[in-house]
Amino acid sequence: MTETILECAGVNRYFGALAAVNGLSFQVERGQLFGIAGPNGAGKTTLFNLLSGHVPASSGTIRFKGEEIQGLPPHRICHRGLARTFQIPQVFGSGTIEENVLVGAYFGRRERLPAFGFDRETRSRADRALEMTGLGAHRRAPAHLASVFDKKRLMMASALATEPDLLMLDEPFGGLNHGEIDDLIALIRRLHGAGLTILLIEHVMRALMALSERVLIMHHGEELAEGTPDEIRRNSHVIQVYLGRTAGVA
Ligand SMILES: Nc1ncnc2c1ncn2[C@@H]1O[C@H](COP(=O)(O)OP(=O)(O)O)[C@@H](O)[C@H]1O
Ligand SMILES: [Mg+2]
Repeated sequence: MTETILECAGVNRYFGALAAVNGLSFQVERGQLFGIAGPNGAGKTTLFNLLSGHVPASSGTIRFKGEEIQGLPPHRICHRGLARTFQIPQVFGSGTIEENVLVGAYFGRRERLPAFGFDRETRSRADRALEMTGLGAHRRAPAHLASVFDKKRLMMASALATEPDLLMLDEPFGGLNHGEIDDLIALIRRLHGAGLTILLIEHVMRALMALSERVLIMHHGEELAEGTPDEIRRNSHVIQVYLGRTAGVA
């Protein structure tokens, strides 16, 4: 039995006259790894901003676990089990890697907690996320000195520490070298294998095609195509608009 965890119906977002997301409808099943790609400016990040509540939709409905979430603030959406990373790594510069993940774990707690210090449950959530992402040994390092790869894993760990049902990753492979791409593919596979539903925006086609069960290609805010990686590779519109310009399609 499949269960739809996320359902977007006729979602629009205008910035002035620009339709950044234009009549988008799609569904994601629980446990699925759903990939999203498309040219720069296609509206992919805006779509994530609508889903996470950072930007309100102009119209349309977004249902998560059967309930409308459109219009809720980001912390309420996070508490319902939807977490994300950002295209440009966001870390708190003054803290260690561990402190950054603790803040994520704290943000994800639904209960009222003391304003100072972290309780045992928050600490154990942060510990689990650090171990899952392979950052356990780097926990005491200052976050601002971390490599690009560690900053990306740190953002993932902070999101995972909120214990989400759905994790959204915005171009996590950008700026990584070949070996790091392989390591991150393996990490995302492990998270997916553990049952997490993942929405993955990615330009690195090798990674997107290797990981995704279904792929949505966006263009000018609209759906250009949706299907399995094989269907997407063969789709003549997708080749014309997008894949034809992307080197290294695997
Ligand atoms: N806050 C904003 N204000 C005005 N225009 C925006 C804003 N955010 C995104 N856009 C525009 O919306 C379009 C889609 O952007 P974006 O979602 O970042 O695309 P992608 O992530 O696919 O590259 C672009 O034309 C971008 O300039
Ligand atoms: Mg983007």
